[in-house]
Amino acid sequence: MRPEVVVAGDAEDLVEVALTELRAAAFAAVAARGRLMIALSGGSTPFALYRRLAELPEEGEDELPWEHIHWFWGDERCVAPEDPDSNYGNTRDALLDHAPIPAANLHRMRGEDDPQEAARAYEEELRTVFSVGPTEVPRFDLVLLGIGPDGHTASLFPGSAALAENRRLCVANRVDRLAAWRLTLTYPVLDAARAIAFLAEGDAKAAIVARVLGPLEQPPLPAQLVAPRDGRLLFLLDAAAAAQLPR
Ligand code: 6PG
Repeated sequence: MRPEVVVAGDAEDLVEVALTELRAAAFAAVAARGRLMIALSGGSTPFALYRRLAELPEEGEDELPWEHIHWFWGDERCVAPEDPDSNYGNTRDALLDHAPIPAANLHRMRGEDDPQEAARAYEEELRTVFSVGPTEVPRFDLVLLGIGPDGHTASLFPGSAALAENRRLCVANRVDRLAAWRLTLTYPVLDAARAIAFLAEGDAKAAIVARVLGPLEQPPLPAQLVAPRDGRLLFLLDAAAAAQLPR
């Protein structure tokens, strides 16, 4: 699949572009299958979008089908939700506590638990909620991903063991650079998605965005290895993050 690169104007424009994609995915998925299954990115980039979602009216044509959206995470730090590093905790503060989301529709990775156990438990939750068997892969409607300065995405970091995982859906991944464990979805799950949307904003991301969208590196950047087999691959960028892309 060829990546679809969408260059918005500034950071606010990028939020509106991402909101439009998310809303379209939501209504299409609900019409087709009764629900939207979305995996959220951590890091800081998506939080302007999460805050924007929290501001949506609960009535009228600008609302989302909140009761039919199931929220998952692409990765999590191995910390409790109260920890300032928690992707879930930060998303709860920015969005989840401010939108009509049924508690049963929230599917967080338990960063406070033993990493190996939390990864196993998340895989089991994925299989249960998606109703997939032990040899099937759940198919997300939309996965939001960020791009780290080293080309990592989710918690798939360069040189880490999770890059080679081609069976399990979720793993605990030791990230030496951070001297920390992370929980992350694996490439089999990302590549099964109906749509992957990378979000990148700001001039600090311009160089890595150009590398990710450039020739496959050796070794490949983790973000370069995300390749939905039968889905859209979107790069939603503001002008600053797109500044080093060839015209
Ligand atoms: C995380 C992420 C990670 C993030 C990138 C970009 O838990 O940190 O999921 O992959 O998306 O590091 O982070 P920023 O958006 O903060 O630049």
